[in-house]
Order: sequence, then structure tokens, then C-alpha cells
Amino acid sequence: MVKKKKKSQNLKAELKINNKTYSLPIYDSTAGEKVLDISKLHQESNYFTYDPGFSSTASCESKITFIDGNKGILKYRGYDVAELATKSDFIEVTNLLIYGDLPNKAQLNKYRKLIARHTLLHDQIVNFFQGFRRDAHPMAMMVGVMGALSSFYQDSLDINDPHQRQEATRRIIAKAATIGAMAYKYSIGQAFVSPKNNLNYAENFLHMCFSHSAEKYKISPVLAKAMDVIFILHADHEQNASTSTVRLAGSSGANPFACIAAGVASLWGPAHGGANQAALEMLEEIGDTKNIKKYISKAKDKEDKFKLMGFGHRVYKNYDPRAKILKQVCSKVLKHVGIKNDPILKLAIELEKIALKDNYFKEKKLYPNVDFYSGIILRAIGFPPEMFTVIFAIARTAGWTAQWTEMTEDPIQKIGRPRQLYTGKVKLKYGQNRSTKNTR
Ligand code: SDX
Repeated sequence: MVKKKKKSQNLKAELKINNKTYSLPIYDSTAGEKVLDISKLHQESNYFTYDPGFSSTASCESKITFIDGNKGILKYRGYDVAELATKSDFIEVTNLLIYGDLPNKAQLNKYRKLIARHTLLHDQIVNFFQGFRRDAHPMAMMVGVMGALSSFYQDSLDINDPHQRQEATRRIIAKAATIGAMAYKYSIGQAFVSPKNNLNYAENFLHMCFSHSAEKYKISPVLAKAMDVIFILHADHEQNASTSTVRLAGSSGANPFACIAAGVASLWGPAHGGANQAALEMLEEIGDTKNIKKYISKAKDKEDKFKLMGFGHRVYKNYDPRAKILKQVCSKVLKHVGIKNDPILKLAIELEKIALKDNYFKEKKLYPNVDFYSGIILRAIGFPPEMFTVIFAIARTAGWTAQWTEMTEDPIQKIGRPRQLYTGKVKLKYGQNRSTKNTR
């Protein structure tokens, strides 16, 4: 039974075009902005709305993640992310995101065992890695192998079968860490390490990345907890670029593994998930606090493409709550691994201080985002910058699969097919308007 959206009490919008008035229903939210329903506007007015980058567009209705960009609030299924980061763990959070409420003890124990059972990959998948150059970016391996899973798990491709949908989400979450660890091992020329299912998700990931045949990797509870918090904080974030990519891919009926591979590809961009690698590389390039002013001016210069990586956000016009938590985790991890007065952390804190006092950043409400401090932690744990976005992708499989499930189960969902403002040429005959340039 299609649940009718709750219309706002006696609130409606009217749009007047050429003396004709169009009435647009307004729907209520439980938190955040209300929406104007423009789905019938083109049919009635023959006009499209225009919103490149979708800054003013709600692409869907969702109950999963809420962000208040002005107040710097982030909630998964109504729970504040800071509370989940301290009291929950990543696997419980994946269950919460997908099923909508916190599992009870029996459900969670059963779910943990089911996820653990899916950590292994089909042995033939090892061959996929052999096809990559050793210096391939690990995200290239994540995209390729994630998509290839569809050829190995053909009993969880039917998106209309709830059981197969559920199996696919569990396989994707469980195997993402194994694939990420294998990509790391392959890039450093070490043998793959199998998962150990008596370890929790974060411990298992560290084990698969840092154990090797010559010596046992002793898992530090401090680093495992930091890893788990990083996974929780990166798990979901409303309709960001990669999640919207997963939803759009899923709206055509593509199989879940292909949709998540599309999400991995979108996350890779430096404006999105690739920013954690870019932010650390930027800090290393700045090198010393005396160079901060020069880079701040570059970031403010409209003619210069340089942006302060790890700063700014389409939604947050306040401090990203995840960056606040990661800044605290930073100090704890650096102390634990014995890095005193880390020059990069000192530089990051000084850069943040100077930027937040600068009118350009204050007026444009640019604050540190999730990617500003995460790289410092991951580098201290032992990861190279190329692995930072892989770790982001592993965590985000929780949100991608939850959002994909919500979309697939939404009775009104249909294929996403935006339109355009066409400003190209019309009415040309073959031969007219041929290029006169001698280069192309
Ligand atoms: C993630 O969407 C999500 O939720 C993403 C994410 C998630 O969890 O999924 O939160 C993860 O992707 C975080 C963002 C990581 N990216 C970076 O740190 C890269 C650096 N940041 C910028 O590229 C930028 O801030 C974006 C891409 C994040 C947001 O771009 P928008 O939406 O264009 O930013 P905006 O409209 O708020 O920008 C307002 C102005 C613009 O200048 P004007 O056109 O008004 O003159 O601020 C400028 C921007 O050029 N600006 C910056 C800047 N970020 C925005 N100027 C210098 N340095 C920056 N970092």
C-alpha cells in the first residue's frame, strides 16, 4: 500500500508563469526542510526546473540519515553520530542503517555471525588482482573487483527478491574490507592474509592489512577502536554524490554489486571521498606553518584552481561534526603510537585556526570536513595515503547498501532520468557548420 506523503497543513506554493498559476503541493519533513513537489510541473507547464549540482533539489524521500548543515548535526536513523561512535560499533551501525532500528542482542549476535561468514572471497577473485599493475591506485582495484562480485554471487542479483537483496548487502559489507585489504597487500607486494572471523570488523581489517607470514601483527585495542570510529563516521551521509550515484544506478534495475561499484567510482573524486588523500598530501606540500598564508591566498584566488582540501561542504555551513570527533581521535592515536608533536597535526591545527579567522572562509562558511583530520589518523595507524579513500569506501558500503535497499523497496521509485536546458545548435543540414580549425 503506497503511503501517501503527509502534505503540510494548508501550506501550498503557487508558481505564476505567463498569467497561469500552478499549485505545487508542499510535503512536511520530520526534521529539516520541507519540499515542493514539482513532479507534475513539466506535464502541466512545459517548463523544467534548473538546478545543476542539485543544491536545491531533494531527489528522494529517506528515513536513514539526517544532516542539519547550519547546526552541524548528523544523525543515523535518529541517533546522533557522536553517541554511536562512542557506544556502538560499525557492524551494529550497518544493521541500524539497513533495518531502521537498533537490533536486540539475539538479532545482533546472529547478524555478526552472518556478516563474518561472508568475509571470504571466492578463490578465483585473486586472479583479478593479478591483472593490475602493482602501482595501480587501490581504488581502481576496489571499483573493478566490487563490480566483478556480481559474476561470483549470482544467487543474490535478483533485486525483486527480498532475501537476495539482503544477502547482497551482507556480502558487500563483509567483502569490502577483504577486498580493500587485498588491494593494499597487492600494492605493497605482500601475500594476501585471510580474514579471521573471531575478530570484530575493524580488528579483522587491521589483521588482513598488517599481519604477514614473518610475524604476527598484535592488534592494538586503541587502534582498533579508532578504526571502528572511522568506519562509523564514514558510514552514511544522506544523498551525497556517491550515494546518489548508487541510487541512480539502482533505479535502472542494475544488480547491487554493479551499483556499489558505481558508488566506489564516484567516491574516488578529490572533491568527494578522494579528499582525505588530497588533504594529507596538501598538508605535506605546505610542509611548514610559515607557508600557510601562501596557501590560504591560493585557496581564495578565483584564478587559482587550488582549494583547501578537507575544507568546505555543500551541506555543512558549520563545523562537520565528524571532523570534531576525528580531531579528538587524532590526538589519542598519535599519543598511542608515540608520535609526539606531529608536525602535520600541528600544521593542520594552525591552518584551521588561521582559515577560520579569515573573512573569505567565514563569509563562505567553510569549515574543516570529515576529510581534514582522517588522513592524519590513518597515516599514524600505518596506511599510505592511497588507502584512505579505500577505507572511506569500505565504511560507506553501509550507507550505500542501506540507501539502495530503501530505494529498491520504495513502491514509487522509478528510473531516474533528469532533463536539460538545451542551448546547442538546431536545424543544420549535413555539411553546414563544418569545423575550420586545423587542430582538435
Ligand atoms: C565529502 O556530500 C557529502 O556529504 C560528502 C561527504 C560524505 O560524507 O559523503 O561529506 C564527504 O566529500 C566531504 C568533502 C570533501 N571535499 C573536500 O574537502 C574538497 C575541498 N572542498 C571543496 O571542493 C568544496 O567545499 C566541496 C566540493 C566540498 C563543496 O563544493 P561546493 O558545494 O561548490 O561548495 P560551496 O558551494 O559551499 O562553495 C561556496 C564557495 C565557492 O566560491 P564562490 O563560487 O561562492 O565564489 O566557497 C568556495 C567555492 O569555490 N569553496 C572553497 C572551498 N570550498 C568551497 N574555496 C577554497 N577552498 C575550499 N575548500
